[in-house]
Amino acid sequence: MSDNKVQIFDTTLRDGEQVPGCKLNTEQKLIIAERLDLLGVDVIEAGFPVSSPGDFNSVTEITKIIRNSTVCGLTRAVENDIKVAAEALKYAVRPRIHTGIGTSESHIKHKFNTTPEKIIERGVAAVKYAKSFVEDVEFYAEDAGRTDNEYLARVCEAMVAAGATVLNIPDTTGYCLPEEYGAKIKYLRENVKGIHNVTLSCHCHNDLGLATANSIAGVVNGARQIECTINGIGERAGNTALEEVVMILKQHPYLDLHTDINTKLLYNTSKMVSENMGMFVQPNKAIVGSNAFAHSSGIHQDGVIKNRETYEIIDPEEVGVTESAIVLTARSGRAALAYRAKKVGYELTKLQLDDVYKEFLNYADRKKEVVDQDIHKIMESFDIKP
Ligand code: KIV
Ligand code: ZN
Repeated sequence: MSDNKVQIFDTTLRDGEQVPGCKLNTEQKLIIAERLDLLGVDVIEAGFPVSSPGDFNSVTEITKIIRNSTVCGLTRAVENDIKVAAEALKYAVRPRIHTGIGTSESHIKHKFNTTPEKIIERGVAAVKYAKSFVEDVEFYAEDAGRTDNEYLARVCEAMVAAGATVLNIPDTTGYCLPEEYGAKIKYLRENVKGIHNVTLSCHCHNDLGLATANSIAGVVNGARQIECTINGIGERAGNTALEEVVMILKQHPYLDLHTDINTKLLYNTSKMVSENMGMFVQPNKAIVGSNAFAHSSGIHQDGVIKNRETYEIIDPEEVGVTESAIVLTARSGRAALAYRAKKVGYELTKLQLDDVYKEFLNYADRKKEVVDQDIHKIMESFDIKP
């Protein structure tokens, strides 16, 4: 693998599915997993097998159809979780067990009521046990975002020595600032023995709206895997959005980092996940929102009609959107009206456009948006034929 490749670890079916009210059945999970494989994700986190018989079954069924991506199952640092995950993954071409434990002071004290040393022992035992089933073992240091860096480095070193292949550094509560998260990754790269033989992974939550920025800070500082979900769905404010990190790396070639994602499938994949989960995508969502390539102010429309790049940094076709939308509202100018009229068959002279534009503004003041049907009515009232 090239050192500049960032692996995409999709957890839509595990962390994403933890959203209240967004339960997926096995059939839906299979449809989504198949699409993720086609999209080119490196790892599909298919579920948390010990959590329920349904989740166990979904993970197993997913392993039977996925041929390219690694399929991963989550566990706690608990023997039975790991045994059950290994069983669920037994048909996987590339199985990975993802095990781990909380490492922040708050988790050690309040969740486990134990000591930092005992946490390391439990983590090591879990990694070694997972290694007895599969070669590829990822360790997560839950709440790493709020874990003291020196202690976190000791945890990581012990897990590398125990055989972990990937070290996941989750900002579980979405607390870190990008500089802080980037510095954490850098610190681990510089202070953990054996770190260069394993992959560092970013797993960021969006509680302060920084999940994407933190993940990018992580890879800029040496991490080579990003854990993310389609549409950024996930616990509370969600996870890092897959489509955002992928397009950031693509649009900023000077970072010299790339993924293997087929970006032309991003928009349809977003729609598919949204429909299956019954989870609507906000219109202004970056990359995949319905307004991401829509222009409604006259100044912007005029610019985009002259040259798309004046107001767009991404060619919509690159993410599977057929074209930019020129939305007609009371803020639209003559250029936008002429453009949309031409699209539905009317080639207007300058004089006609002046007349029609006045009537268009009357419509636009009454309605939020002037649609094709309205354009036909306006033209009819001026006896203009297509
Ligand atoms: O946010 C988190 O810490 C997690 C781990 C279980 C990987 O989702
Ligand atoms: Zn998470």
